Amino acid sequence: PIMLSSSSPHDHLIFDASVMQYQSYIPSQFIWPDHEKPCLELPELQVPLIDMKSFNSGDPQAISDACSLLNEACKKHGFFLVVNHGVDAKLIAKAHEFMNDFFCMKLLEKQKAQRKVGDHCGYASSFTGRFSSKLPWKETLSFRYSAADPSIKTVEDYIVSTLGKDFRQFGISYQEYCEAMSNLSLRIMELLGMSLGVGCNYFRDFFEGNDSIMRLNYYPPCQKPDLALGTGPHCDPTSLTILHQDHVGGLQVFVDERWYSVNSNQDAFVVNIGDTFMALSNGVYKSCLHRAVVNNKRVRKSLAFFLCPRADKVVTPPKVLVNWEKPRIYPDFTWPILLEFTQRQYRADTRTLDAFS
Ligand code: SIN
Ligand code: FE2
Repeated sequence: PIMLSSSSPHDHLIFDASVMQYQSYIPSQFIWPDHEKPCLELPELQVPLIDMKSFNSGDPQAISDACSLLNEACKKHGFFLVVNHGVDAKLIAKAHEFMNDFFCMKLLEKQKAQRKVGDHCGYASSFTGRFSSKLPWKETLSFRYSAADPSIKTVEDYIVSTLGKDFRQFGISYQEYCEAMSNLSLRIMELLGMSLGVGCNYFRDFFEGNDSIMRLNYYPPCQKPDLALGTGPHCDPTSLTILHQDHVGGLQVFVDERWYSVNSNQDAFVVNIGDTFMALSNGVYKSCLHRAVVNNKRVRKSLAFFLCPRADKVVTPPKVLVNWEKPRIYPDFTWPILLEFTQRQYRADTRTLDAFS
């Protein structure tokens, strides 16, 4: 049968994602306006492949080549891929596996970690929200990771305290995953520093002891993927995002007035510049609009690590990036102030339940 209607008289109910993925209509709250509806087949964005092995080898020529590639991509759109990153493939696989375990649980179980209004940590599902529009077709679990004191296991403690002792191994794995992401992001900061001509330690030192955010994105299949979006268009307010998307793919980036896809590569992390780093670079490196589409066949998963500076760090660009030709474009700020501003904006505009997406 041809389904003409894509909304239902039951739109006011709390939805059940496990059922909704099979339904041929989707509630109107998930239907995006025509000018924002996604295109599912797009040309691929040309992003450089940054090989961390050549960076680690210390070969000056290889490092200088990587810096030039990075500089070009970051000035244009701020997206690049990182390979030979040294993060254990088993740890990444485990992080994906545990996502299946968590998101396949009953709603009541997941809600033990329910995100509270105004908070950015916890379980969130647009399928259980009401009275909103342009909802993202996804569920998320977010938590804080602090690198300030390695003896404090922020992730493990949070998981066990919300989900219970049975989740200790789950917590340990994501603790480990976040540590790997934090270390990788500091290495990337060295490269970004060199590519901007401020030396390899400048940004690395700035993000030492970072207080970051990890988010697990779980996108159930959607029978109307051309009407809905997994994550709506947004720029990351954070500093640097390190994303691992599974083999399904669905990440899209807006460059030169059109959308491109960033195809999935299991061996690579997709890295992008966020607003805070754009401000740190005095606008030289760009934080760019992106979104995630869904599909009608498979669950899609992505692991996103958002690097954020410690709360007391003042985001101000290094002097060499400011001159009469390139005066300051953003005022000084601290990350908590920007975060609060971002959340207030999102609450005023009901576009999404998600603080960052
Ligand atoms: C993704 O799931 O690929 C991206 C999600 C995001 O940018 O928040
Ligand atoms: Fe994002």
